[in-house]
Amino acid sequence: MSIIDQSGTFDLGDRSVKRLGYGAMQLAGPGVFGPPRDRGAALAVLREAVASGVNHIDTSDFYGPHVTNQIIREALHPYRDDLVIVTKVGARRGADGSWNSAFSREDLTQAVHDNLRNLRLDVLDLVNLRIMFDAHGPAEGSIEAPLTVLADLQRQGLVRHVGLSNATPRQIAEGRGITKIVCVQNHYNLAHRADDRLIDDLTREGAAYVPFFPLGGFTPLQSSTLSDVAARLDATPIQVALAWLLRRAPNILLIPGTSSVGHLRENLAAARLVLPDEAIEELNRMADIAA
Ligand SMILES: NC(=O)c1ccc[n+]([C@@H]2O[C@H](COP(=O)([O-])OP(=O)(O)OC[C@H]3O[C@@H](n4cnc5c(N)ncnc54)[C@H](OP(=O)(O)O)[C@@H]3O)[C@@H](O)[C@H]2O)c1
Repeated sequence: MSIIDQSGTFDLGDRSVKRLGYGAMQLAGPGVFGPPRDRGAALAVLREAVASGVNHIDTSDFYGPHVTNQIIREALHPYRDDLVIVTKVGARRGADGSWNSAFSREDLTQAVHDNLRNLRLDVLDLVNLRIMFDAHGPAEGSIEAPLTVLADLQRQGLVRHVGLSNATPRQIAEGRGITKIVCVQNHYNLAHRADDRLIDDLTREGAAYVPFFPLGGFTPLQSSTLSDVAARLDATPIQVALAWLLRRAPNILLIPGTSSVGHLRENLAAARLVLPDEAIEELNRMADIAA
């Protein structure tokens, strides 16, 4: 049994995955644009992740663009049978690195084919529709048109399961009228807890919740509370942040991102960190301070 088996498992669509996975966004160049500074290091991170037992990798063809998926293919293809690669569509990068909405039928169809080609897959296990009414956070607006396109691609056998990212509860409800929504991928971590109620609802409903920026994103979380708790438990602040998420709800699946094998090992070791109740209470208060 590897360390990350201690994180437990949860179903993503019809596949069971370990709750501690890996997010590949950090493998592209600075600003998630262009090639990484050290391609060999990026390949090594992916190989180490899978060798350590990771069987859930989150990616998108708009990371790079194309670069991250091509690195995943080079590092890991042919893929292990138990590996679930989750991707997302709905955005396109501008020549200046900007993140733009790409919701037309043509955009979404091309994005699915780009993912298939660059990952060298015949079918994508799970595709999240990345909602872009506001790139920085969930914003209301109908997703009927783009999700109908994704459901059509699902009927054609190119996509097995569908999820939503950057979604509001209303959009999740609307989406469920079009196709089964097996997961929601939104911004959430110890200090950013706007989705607390949504997580509780999804826990009751048995759907996966996959927090992006679990470590705080481009500027990792820093707080004296986190550091104090970590010091007492002989762990690192990042491990405490991940262990708190694992404890927060059983349907939370983690995809911490890193471009470093050393950080990857540190992050995966969080699976065996058990937080005492008093530490949980202290950490819960961080959200009140951040609010
Ligand atoms: N759906 C969406 O809209 C969306 C948006 C953003 C991200 N995502 C997905 O979510 C995944 C996770 O988000 P993320 O990678 O942006 O942010 P994150 O996991 O919250 O944090 C990544 C940052 O933390 C650093 N880091 C990682 N492990 C560390 C450690 N042990 N010690 C110190 N620093 C550490 C990384 O730097 P190093 O590289 O130096 O380790 C990087 O700067 C992404 O990879 C992507 O797959 C989805």
